[in-house]
Amino acid sequence: MSKVVSRRELLSLATGAGLTLAVHGCAAPGNGGSEDNGGSEDNGGNGKNGKAPASVAFEQRLAVPPLLQPKVAADGTLVFDLTARSGEREFVAGRRTGTWGFNGDYLGPTLRARRGQTVRIDVHNELGETTTVHWHGMHLPAAYDGGPHQPIEPGATWSPTWRIDQPATALWYHPHPHGQTQKHTYRGLAGLFVIDDEVEGALDLPRRYGIDDVPIIVQDKNFEDDGSLDEKDHGPTGFLGDTLVVNGTVGPYLPVTSQRVRLRLLNASTARIYNFGFADGRSFELIGTDGGLLPTPIEATGIQLSPAERAQIVVAVKPGERLVLRSSPPELGTEHGITRLAGGLDTFEVLELRAGRQLTPSAQVPRRLVEVRHPSESDAVTTRTFRMGDMEINGHDMDMDRVDVATTIDTTEIWEITNQNELPHSFHVHDVQFAVLTIDGQKPSPQLAGWKDTVYLPPQRTVRIIMHFRDYADRTMPYMYHCHLMMHEDLGMMGQFVVLRPGESPQLTCSHHC
Ligand code: C2O
Ligand code: CU
Ligand code: CU
Repeated sequence: MSKVVSRRELLSLATGAGLTLAVHGCAAPGNGGSEDNGGSEDNGGNGKNGKAPASVAFEQRLAVPPLLQPKVAADGTLVFDLTARSGEREFVAGRRTGTWGFNGDYLGPTLRARRGQTVRIDVHNELGETTTVHWHGMHLPAAYDGGPHQPIEPGATWSPTWRIDQPATALWYHPHPHGQTQKHTYRGLAGLFVIDDEVEGALDLPRRYGIDDVPIIVQDKNFEDDGSLDEKDHGPTGFLGDTLVVNGTVGPYLPVTSQRVRLRLLNASTARIYNFGFADGRSFELIGTDGGLLPTPIEATGIQLSPAERAQIVVAVKPGERLVLRSSPPELGTEHGITRLAGGLDTFEVLELRAGRQLTPSAQVPRRLVEVRHPSESDAVTTRTFRMGDMEINGHDMDMDRVDVATTIDTTEIWEITNQNELPHSFHVHDVQFAVLTIDGQKPSPQLAGWKDTVYLPPQRTVRIIMHFRDYADRTMPYMYHCHLMMHEDLGMMGQFVVLRPGESPQLTCSHHC
């Protein structure tokens, strides 16, 4: 499998660019991203140098991914049909861009099911190259996880099936082929998977899909002059683009017809880290994170999301106003040269909310949302340590034939993850939702009080997480854990774990090249 950029290239890139920075030396900390839209900066159209992109004219109505209608099989199983294929999209007027998408040119439809329902997804691959489809954040058997061990050959169909059994939230799906995740996702293969349940359904929250409950899938791109996607431009964290595409729309506005609107934010970028908030500094209520709703809404003015992280927020608007969702420079916890190269100085205008003159009433967000019962530390049977180093974890890069961690079904574990590198990383675990116990020994902010499947890891910090491996023992098929900066993942910053029955030992069946 060819890697997008070799480790040596990557390192020289990081060092070389560091030198460039020292020479330029013009971006004072906290100033380079500029507080306004930065349209006047000499941006040269290149996000990777940490310059704020030109201001956005919000001229296209935000596309909303359609809800995919399932067929209902005789036994009640919801059967969804997804086809990965190539296509073409006019992101910028007059320029055609070659893209990939599910059931369409770009991105995929929203899948939706209730807790307790059994689903089957028939995934067809019409791409002309091997891909996979991973259900990010989903609790399901390893054989249906859609990681690198479940390749779908060109022309083939893969039909995973499982019973949805986790709290209401917005998960997502994206390809996960060995060494190719960044490319496949960047070209447009990504979609939301919304889970509903009774607890969430009983709360008075905005829930009219596409009206006051709106998916916001954010990606960054660079377009070549001929309109094609630039896939070459990599910094030390991966690909950073200068143009935001939201649900596939460049320069989007969303007509708002109610007093409150719920946004389901998904960072579907391959490397960029966003810090979402509103341009006028108003606060919103954070109601949910990766794996479910929070115990109580949290009033916030910003929410930072690294690739694959999600957040649900509710914002109130006034009749007739226009309000801009913005991404301000994220707090990466990195040294300045790296910060700049990792996009940590960049500001983006994401989306304009256009409130109508008459707004339908929306209830206040309930003060109590859901009960979140995290596993308790005293139940943990083991603490494992993970050192995130130079494109490897615990000194190894990804090997599909090696089991790095063997856990036992129905046990609780603490994983202690340290970023020993100067670069930003993140940590994602398949199969489970975890709780963040501490960051460098401190209790995490209330924004991390809910279920998470991906957590940002600043350099030289240690994050402790706890999780329970409740179901689905399979000695033959591993799940993945990895950095979710997709280039890092592709370069090998990934390991494999199996869930065993007591007394079993792992025995991987070789599902790929042997
Ligand atoms: Cu979002 Cu291993 O994946
Ligand atoms: Cu995942
Ligand atoms: Cu990383």
